[in-house]
Amino acid sequence: MEISRTPNNELDQSIVRVPDMAEVPESLIHVGRQFQQVMMMYSCAIREVKTKLEVLNDELSVRNQRNPIEMIQSRIKKPASIMEKLRRRGYPLSLESLVENLDDVAGIRVICSFIDDIYEVADMLIRQDDVRVIAIKDYFKSPKANGYRSYHMIIEVPVFFSDRKKPMRVEVQIRTMAMDFWASLDHQLKYKKELGEETDISEELRECADVIARTDERMLEIRKKIEARGITVRE
Ligand code: GTP
Ligand code: MG
Repeated sequence: MEISRTPNNELDQSIVRVPDMAEVPESLIHVGRQFQQVMMMYSCAIREVKTKLEVLNDELSVRNQRNPIEMIQSRIKKPASIMEKLRRRGYPLSLESLVENLDDVAGIRVICSFIDDIYEVADMLIRQDDVRVIAIKDYFKSPKANGYRSYHMIIEVPVFFSDRKKPMRVEVQIRTMAMDFWASLDHQLKYKKELGEETDISEELRECADVIARTDERMLEIRKKIEARGITVRE
């Protein structure tokens, strides 16, 4: 492959020639296909878990006359993030290592209406006999020092392919709309910024998280009061 260089003999990234397929080594094409296959398996696992959550939401909606799940989002970790995490944690940079060592290649975020919906949905998912729980982190009962609250689960679900059944790991994050609002803005504000020294900003963010958590609790109390008074929803 021809690589262009600037007058200072540096690589000129803007005019690196794209190789034609005949020049790409077979081994690279093979690795590319294998990577594509593993990512396909993770996206099937996401579909399986999403369907489980949608079924639970439908059932609970009929039973309780309201939707416990507001929204389900999902994502497959990008190749650059996969490589960065393997490197950061000192794991080998291979497909086997990715499957073995990373729990969040497939990620699902479930946005619930009320705090008690988080536990109801999580418990119902865990009770399904083809769901294996690998780890749970309850950042709602034990918030992080910065105020982050969310319920995290790493689960394993079997995915049936043409010739085999493969257990696949999926990270499920469950939080309320209010917690999600805080986490999204926290992520935007801190993305690629080192806020270690800015204690006043961290303190403000934590205060906002605490206000949001109290609001979530009050909204749940209000809902319970309405239910206790037997106020029915107008059709
Ligand atoms: P990662 O290396 O980031 O995957 O962390 P971890 O393996 O220690 O797992 P943890 O369960 O703590 O966090 C997993 C994911 O939760 C992160 O990738 C974020 O999406 C989210 N998360 C965790 N902590 C925070 C936080 O303080 N703020 C925000 N906005 N998101 C967080
Ligand atoms: Mg992660």
